[in-house]
Amino acid sequence: MKVACQIFRLLSRRNFSAGTKMAKSKFEYVREFESSDRCLPNTWMVVRLDGKGFHKFADKHNFEKPNDKNALSLMNEAAKSVMKEFKEITLAYGQSDEFSFLIRRDHDLYNRRSSKISTIICSLFTSAYVFHWDHCMVGKTLLYPPCFDGRVILYPDEKNVRDYFSWRQADCHINNLYNTTFWNLVLKGGITNQQAEERLCKTVSGDKNEILFSQFGINYNNEPEMFRKGTVVYRPKDRSKRSSNVNVEHIDIINDAFWLEHPHLLNKIRE
Ligand code: GTP
Ligand code: MG
Repeated sequence: MKVACQIFRLLSRRNFSAGTKMAKSKFEYVREFESSDRCLPNTWMVVRLDGKGFHKFADKHNFEKPNDKNALSLMNEAAKSVMKEFKEITLAYGQSDEFSFLIRRDHDLYNRRSSKISTIICSLFTSAYVFHWDHCMVGKTLLYPPCFDGRVILYPDEKNVRDYFSWRQADCHINNLYNTTFWNLVLKGGITNQQAEERLCKTVSGDKNEILFSQFGINYNNEPEMFRKGTVVYRPKDRSKRSSNVNVEHIDIINDAFWLEHPHLLNKIRE
């Protein structure tokens, strides 16, 4: 009897369920209100994160204008933390306050549940951003908690995936050329923000290159690659290194060369 009592106590403490139907509470029905957000199978999944109110966040933390090398490195560290945790991510691309993660099309991460995937990647990225702050932002105090939004976008084929990343890298180029010219006009040229805005409105990229060169002696092509191209984090081909190694480079992903050199990034594991 004593042994039977002990076994009963042990089992009831473990909330055992294997093969045993637990009695449901009368409140259980509320689960029926949850809707499935399972993503289409066999599609590429991109999770893009973007800093909330980073215009203000950058100001409050005295980020260098237009590019703060340490702040961008911090974003890259956070992205590496995410890639180390989720091996299904083959590649990530970041610029400014955003990062996009590519999850291979045949993955079964969290049963392909969209909100589960986006929220867990978003929260890991955010906590890693805070975790690595002191290391990257030497001598700067984090004044308030940063946050990022996240979304999932599905792409049916490789061309769409490549076009997506081309879109983000082209955006990086357009914004960075504008911002570099804008802040040189303001910080070195001594004109106001509004005057700089007026000067740049209706200019094409050639005009901005010309302003930088003739007025400030800057050849835009010599600006740091991290600023001009953003950051690409990807898994090397060697499978034995897949567990934790990632490469971090500031390279072109619009042209074919990168994808031809790393075909495994867009290939299926299982056929
Ligand atoms: P929401 O994303 O809509 O919440 O607005 P946001 O203020 O984050 O602006 P958005 O995402 O459109 O753009 C990112 C902003 O972050 C830029 O406009 C810059 O103001 C700021 N930012 C990002 N990286 C840097 C940097 O390296 N240096 C500086 N000074 N600012 C940066
Ligand atoms: Mg933002």
